[in-house]
Amino acid sequence: MSVKARAEEQIAGLRERIRYHEHRYYVLDDPEIADREFDELVEQLKHLEATHPELVTPDSPTQRVGGKPAEGQVAVEHTLPMLSLDNAYGESELLDYDRRVQESSGDSRTGFVCELKIDGLSLALTFENGSLVRGVTRGDGLRGEDVTANVRTIRSVPLHVPALSRVEQGGEKVEVRGEVFLPLDSFRKLNREREQNGEPLFANPRNAAAGTLRTLDPGVVAGRNLDIFVYQALVDGQVPRRNHSEVLDWLKEAGFKVNPHWKRCASMQEVTDFCRLWEDRRESLGYEIDGVVVKVDSIPLQQDMGETSKFPRWAVAWKFRARQATTVVNDIQVQVGRTGALTPVAVLEPVRLAGSTISRATLHNLDEIARLGIKIGDTVWVEKGGDVIPKVVRVVENLRPPGARDFVMPQRCPICEGEVVRAEDEAVLRCINLTCPAKIREALLHFCSRRALRIEGLGEALVDQLLKKEWVRDPSDLYALKLEDLVGLERMGPKSAANLLAQIEASKQRGLGQLVFGLGIRHVGERTAMVLARHFGTLEILSRASLESLESVFEVGPVVAASVRQFFAQSGNREIVEKLRLAGLNLEERQEESSTSDLQGQQVVLTGRLATLTREEAGRMIALRGGRVTSSVSKKTAFVVAGEDAGGKLAKARQLDIPVMDETEFLELMREQ
Ligand code: IVH
Repeated sequence: MSVKARAEEQIAGLRERIRYHEHRYYVLDDPEIADREFDELVEQLKHLEATHPELVTPDSPTQRVGGKPAEGQVAVEHTLPMLSLDNAYGESELLDYDRRVQESSGDSRTGFVCELKIDGLSLALTFENGSLVRGVTRGDGLRGEDVTANVRTIRSVPLHVPALSRVEQGGEKVEVRGEVFLPLDSFRKLNREREQNGEPLFANPRNAAAGTLRTLDPGVVAGRNLDIFVYQALVDGQVPRRNHSEVLDWLKEAGFKVNPHWKRCASMQEVTDFCRLWEDRRESLGYEIDGVVVKVDSIPLQQDMGETSKFPRWAVAWKFRARQATTVVNDIQVQVGRTGALTPVAVLEPVRLAGSTISRATLHNLDEIARLGIKIGDTVWVEKGGDVIPKVVRVVENLRPPGARDFVMPQRCPICEGEVVRAEDEAVLRCINLTCPAKIREALLHFCSRRALRIEGLGEALVDQLLKKEWVRDPSDLYALKLEDLVGLERMGPKSAANLLAQIEASKQRGLGQLVFGLGIRHVGERTAMVLARHFGTLEILSRASLESLESVFEVGPVVAASVRQFFAQSGNREIVEKLRLAGLNLEERQEESSTSDLQGQQVVLTGRLATLTREEAGRMIALRGGRVTSSVSKKTAFVVAGEDAGGKLAKARQLDIPVMDETEFLELMREQ
């Protein structure tokens, strides 16, 4: 065999293996090999392709990034129009749809398929002889933009689908349609980065996905983690199966990513149950959905029913209750946070929004108020987006009452009348009075919070009373409280007072990381606090650490280092630390604790859908305890956390006898540690 023929064979073999593992990882979310092993395969392929550039093909897994985007994005005509969907608001409109379907179907009752309505943007993918040749956005439905170079970077879009070139007789041209979206954790990460870089934030994951797909740099797109669920297929213009449910199975088997939460429903009762279920469960997904799409299952019946110029008659979208609503801004108040930041907050006429009542929304800072052009008295749109905190998104200017007032930022701290300053590189104003009661209040609440010293029972009401009586001015004063003082407070009997003192006593034995976090040093989050505690070992050493030694700690940058230095340079803070020492708090990192009870160096695998945690949150909990989330189960895996619909990884864990726990047990373990 010639050298070239051997290389050709090796390249083909590697491509097949890489495609197989890409599919396991990006489509099925169920990898079989470790990331490193996968990377090695790609490296081998890259190496071979570099030696034999004539063997590189556009559908090679190495060719995702690099294609040039169509200049200024070219308009392309769709083979068949990409239609929109008619909406059904409420049950009676769904019953109207059912009636129309039953009329068309004659006597034979037909089933439906319910799918989640992904809140992204629709995309048409064209495959020729099994290879992806084009990706086009919906555009106006008749013509869309060619975004092929960007679509190629979406790892759940296969560049080559052998099944399409093999199985379908004459299936030369296959069009697959679906919804591109940005998962919520990627959306939040992207906005965090943009905030840090001073770039404008994306309002929601859909805008972020749309903006990303249209950027002219596929390298940027590749880093953003776009994803896709597909729901339609046309083989040479024909639907390849007689039922839509079979089309979904066909797509899945061919290697496409199909949303797993679809259901074949025999009756409208089942359809409405499905809609209600997902309206309740929408928050549990890692991506946004805005409704349920109900489709006639039978393809011949779909064809009989046909379409209007805008919508197919055989499908309808059940829209969820809006997460946006209008309400009136009754006032704009200023809140002073732990770091002294003055945050304007809109006090709203209470309004129901996606299951809860909203009466306040943050306005962030003066720049945001100017951007919105908001006045007191305005009617505004409020939204609960991917983030839980509601925000004001827009002012309805033509509803502005004659008496609407401008908001004026106070020139002094609204709580202590102290001086406020605006740092050069910041949009926020800060109160710089070290003894500002608002800052003290927030600092105390932070110190007692669950992730810091965890003094349960010391909530807002009690902290307010302690401050009012002037018994507490900083966290160290908590340790001087006496039973007889506490018993006199509102809603505080001898039993709860004794409980509280026991809690305060127990807090002396928390880890150094929790204490460092509890001190509320700017820029020192939970994770950084743990890192500092592990590195320096005692509060004494940390408090004396030089800028250089702080910066030398892995994961600590100059901003954190300067902030830690500044904190311990203030005599008031040093006094607090000394008082904490005298009160008997543990100021040392206990070695045995970190080596026996936490997850130091352990590998954990998450699989299936978790009900109360996102993957990101679970991952953070593990990382905070020194562990690491890995994607595949091996003998090195310490344990597996299995959520709903866990598949191959769970089976593998059982096979290798690796401990498996459910979400509740996992949370229990995290609490213990
Ligand atoms: S079917 C001809 N199924 O919703 C009907 N659409 O508001 C084609 N969408 O333009 C659409 N999830 O972008 C269908 N499971 C799903 C969907 C879905 C999201 C989008 C699609 C469509 C829009 C209509």
